[in-house]
Amino acid sequence: MLVEVRRLPRHVAIIMDGNGRWAQLRRQPRTEGHRRGSDAVRRVVRAARRLGIETLTLFAFSEQNWDRPPDEVEALMSLLREFLVTERDEILGNAIRLTTVGRIGRLPAMVREVLDPLVEASASHRAMTLCLALSYGGREEIADVARRIAQCAASGSVLPSDVDESYVSKMIPSMEFGEVDLLIRTGGEQRISNFLLWGAAYAELHFSPTLWPDYGEADFFDALAAFQARERRFGRTSAQVRESAPSPSVASHVQS
Ligand code: IPE
Ligand code: IPE
Ligand code: MG
Repeated sequence: MLVEVRRLPRHVAIIMDGNGRWAQLRRQPRTEGHRRGSDAVRRVVRAARRLGIETLTLFAFSEQNWDRPPDEVEALMSLLREFLVTERDEILGNAIRLTTVGRIGRLPAMVREVLDPLVEASASHRAMTLCLALSYGGREEIADVARRIAQCAASGSVLPSDVDESYVSKMIPSMEFGEVDLLIRTGGEQRISNFLLWGAAYAELHFSPTLWPDYGEADFFDALAAFQARERRFGRTSAQVRESAPSPSVASHVQS
């Protein structure tokens, strides 16, 4: 698969799914799938950084995932801590900014004590933004924003007539890094599962059958190449898009 370096999506988001099935297929505990899933995170972060993707948002734990069996939740939190500890040097050494979206206040102290300092230490980094969606839900995020807007309107600091799409967009935390261009889901399911509902409104969707622990650079390149073959019309016609498109460049390519 060929990936054209100059037409990369600016913001890629991934629903990293299939860890449990990967483990079950091997008659191993689900937590083993999650452990191997951490290795896939490393591979994809490296590939994205190398290609020059601006923002990579990874769905690591949903607001709904708190309802999983307590043992599994605990294992996921321990693995998250382990990932942050082992990747700290690589993140800082490669000028990656680590940030989060979601209800971070729900995370246990053992995660916060390694997460918060890394978010702070990497805040000025610009090579790539790695955003971890943790205790994240798209509906919850929109509802939180609606509540804040209602409070502003009640106190008179905003007029209801000023609340339009661009106002709301600016209030949505996950919109800090802009709209999602490419949304990938691994593991074969074809659903959004309450991920970036606002920011992915016009994302190109790519569903991969590969279970997340097996996902690698070649799969990621396939998704990027598929993105590059799409025509993003944003409601317009194909002819309009072609008229406004910049002339094709002599692009460099990355081969997977
Ligand atoms: C994704 O893998 C990881 C999280 C949701 C935390 P799953 O654990 O959902 O794996 P499957 O879908 O059961 O295979
Ligand atoms: C979505 O996967 C959440 C993450 C990948 C963190 P799930 O496996 O929880 O999604 P559903 O519940 O099957 O839709
Ligand atoms: Mg799943």
